[in-house]
Amino acid sequence: MKEFNRTDYAGTLRASDVGRTVTVCGWVQRARRLGGLTFVTLRDRTGLLQLNFNAERDAALSELAGTLRTEYVIGATGVVAHRGESAVNRDMPTGEIELYVTALKIFTRADTTPFEILDETECAENLRLKYRYLDLRRPKLQNTIALRHRIAAIARSYFYDNGFLEIETPVLTKSTPEGARDYLVPSRIHPGKFYALPQSPQQYKQLLMLSGFDRYIQIVKCFRDEDLRADRQPEFTQIDLEMSFVDEEDVRAVNEGFLAKLFREVRGIELELPLPCMPWQEAMERFGSDKPDLRFGMELRNITDLVRSCGFKVFTDAAETGSVRLINVDGGAKMTRKEIDSLVEFVRTYRAKGLAWMKINADGIQSSFSKFMQPEELSAIAERAGAQTGDLLLIVADPKDSVVFASLGALRVEVAKRLDRIPKDVYRLLWITDFPMFEWSEEDNRFVAMHHPFTAPKDEDLALLDTDRAHCRAKAYDIVINGYEAGGGSIRIHDPEVQERMFSALGFTREEADERFGHLINAFRYGAPPHGGMAYGLDRLVMLMAGTDNIRDVIAFPKVQTAAELMMNSPDVVEQKQLDELSIAINIKADAE
Ligand code: AMO
Ligand code: AMP
Repeated sequence: MKEFNRTDYAGTLRASDVGRTVTVCGWVQRARRLGGLTFVTLRDRTGLLQLNFNAERDAALSELAGTLRTEYVIGATGVVAHRGESAVNRDMPTGEIELYVTALKIFTRADTTPFEILDETECAENLRLKYRYLDLRRPKLQNTIALRHRIAAIARSYFYDNGFLEIETPVLTKSTPEGARDYLVPSRIHPGKFYALPQSPQQYKQLLMLSGFDRYIQIVKCFRDEDLRADRQPEFTQIDLEMSFVDEEDVRAVNEGFLAKLFREVRGIELELPLPCMPWQEAMERFGSDKPDLRFGMELRNITDLVRSCGFKVFTDAAETGSVRLINVDGGAKMTRKEIDSLVEFVRTYRAKGLAWMKINADGIQSSFSKFMQPEELSAIAERAGAQTGDLLLIVADPKDSVVFASLGALRVEVAKRLDRIPKDVYRLLWITDFPMFEWSEEDNRFVAMHHPFTAPKDEDLALLDTDRAHCRAKAYDIVINGYEAGGGSIRIHDPEVQERMFSALGFTREEADERFGHLINAFRYGAPPHGGMAYGLDRLVMLMAGTDNIRDVIAFPKVQTAAELMMNSPDVVEQKQLDELSIAINIKADAE
């Protein structure tokens, strides 16, 4: 390749390079012939550059250029020239210049691709994922993947500079309950036994603190077999860290330093530190969510006390054990019946049984439940909501507070999206603190750890661990950015006696706890430093920085909703011989396929 040793990346050349002889290499984005002139746009990972071939300058070369087709891989040597004022393309970073080519090399030809390599594409995502290596050629994805690298690099440099050691932890490990479903790997050497892929390196990083490493960081793959969403993948990456001899404020302070550096270097934004903290209870009451998006208002209001003894049974029933709350959509009275009906459907997916509404029209209040209420009761609700003429109140009542919060919290975001009320290019970060230790699991009919079973209770709530689990709060914190849980962590239990009380609060017998967590309980007997940490979802940080709400956009080879990877076609069947070696028999029930 001597004669085509690349000297420059195509997208980096500028008017200041005019007159230089350079060699660029890449893919043909487009080739056009205009009489004796041939224009070829060359693409590499830095951008596009126009190549200029002129039959009058070199007829043979021009003829060769005429054979170029989209996605051919070429090298071109030539002189950088100014395009001339009238030909400047302001939409292209290299639009002022072009390359007068003196030598051309075709490295490989290409078949017609299943879709055009363009940022703006109509092509279905599944087809693009099948040919992900082509999809990844699109400049948008090239930039996002490069951004992902930069964010990982900033994390490494920040935490390394602050004394964190990067230590790898095993991928073949042991199944522990709590959290999501595990991915299991059968053992050949131990027939009938399984490794589990880590949902996070939680226990290992705590054990590293016990070993005295003091500050740990790892950028690490985690695996969770859970239902996928727009911000969830079955394998995803954490920036995972742990520190010894710290309390909540110390962990937050170190991490605010990281976030400040990240926003400064990636976005040129100076974060105001310290970041605000909001207790979990307040976040639920005001936003119906533990990951509130602070970029817009529409906060929840509680009207339970106003409707406790009204004539509407839906409200009075809810008031007994749960609550009745609303959001005020300012200017929302313009919404049509059809639009409101679609919001009713929306909240049903959050288990709300209905959505009541009230419009503050110039000629009075109109509402879906007027017939059950006195006019002064309606006015009291409007007043509590701070409603003005033209506003729309959306009300959810439920015997379970959690349903009211979940549905109104999601509705708040949905309405803001539909009405285009979310400002772009604004970042609102906050910590959510004072999480409950436990949440009630309907499925298991018992309390489960809200974060994980190693999270320490607040000192003042320690006694509640045994007496009042519903009100016991944790030393846990999440970092929330624009309505996404970007990361979370906690101070851990380091006292073996408290850890045992925690396991028993979670309903494990001593034997069960020993069997599953014996290694950790034992380890704590040999001197455990107070410690805590957190983990960021790297994919989510990249999503936020790249301004996309699809996690697949920030992962080179992502999985689709069904957890399949379409390019390699995984998961896939394996040979009988492999199954035999693993002592595995497949037993698919007829209706499972
Ligand atoms: P947690 O379970 O909250 O904490 O995970 C930390 C962060 O990882 C991201 N995340 C995900 N991203 C993409 N797809 C997923 N399926 C997914 N699940 C989680 C989120 C989340 O905030 N060991 C603890 C951390 C600690 O206590 O130190 C843990 O894993 O951004
Ligand atoms: P109905 O008596 O069924 O006509 O209901 C009157 C209004 O109350 C309708 O707008 C319903 O959508 C609404 N509604 C029903 N259940 C609930 C609920 N759980 N929370 C809020 N509104 C509800």
